[in-house]
Amino acid sequence: MEAKKAAAELAIMDVHDGMIVGLGTGSTAYWAIQGLGLRVQNGLNIQAVATSVASENLAKELGIPLIPFADITEIDITIDGADEVDADWHLTKGGGGALLREKIVAFSSKKLIVVVDESKVVERLGTFPLPVEIVQFGYELTIRNLQALGCEPQVRMADNQPYVTDNGNYIIDCYFGSIPNPAELHQAMNSIPGVVENGLFVGMASQVIVGYRDGSVKRLV
Ligand code: A5P
Repeated sequence: MEAKKAAAELAIMDVHDGMIVGLGTGSTAYWAIQGLGLRVQNGLNIQAVATSVASENLAKELGIPLIPFADITEIDITIDGADEVDADWHLTKGGGGALLREKIVAFSSKKLIVVVDESKVVERLGTFPLPVEIVQFGYELTIRNLQALGCEPQVRMADNQPYVTDNGNYIIDCYFGSIPNPAELHQAMNSIPGVVENGLFVGMASQVIVGYRDGSVKRLV
């Protein structure tokens, strides 16, 4: 917890008055939202958009003003976690199931700051199963098409039912073991009808901040 908190607390220092801020999802982004809430209570003037219902509810609780998507064209900065970060700062995201909204927000952000603890930093993506959001219609067939890309797909479950995202879709966790070419795989996955989005964030991170067990923190260069 200390490592995640330390990374998040450094990241929120890049948030300034007047900014539109994307709020990530997960246990690391949680600390960023908490920290921003405190800064807002002390006078920071920002507006935020959330990447999940959970983060939106947390922001509301903390008094962080939320702005409708209809009112924005660009987000100044987004702070979000990741499940894996490779040497080129490509990411796997979606362990918490929010990858679609996270990618929509990240895509329209001038800056995406990724906050992780040291366990997330890897040489190559793929040990963490890649989450893929797919529509419910014909999902068995979509899963077979994902499998043809060389993975072992598994329907994510919650309470003995397929887990349903904030957008009403399923998540398939795809076990690749190793992903040598994230850009290629990203394209191949999103070309399958029924796939809404996959958890590879290729070339999207502007900065990576890593927290360590001893409480220290480092911006990767
Ligand atoms: C949410 O869908 C994910 O993309 C999270 O950002 C990612 O799983 C990291 O979560 P933690 O910070 O909880 O490890």
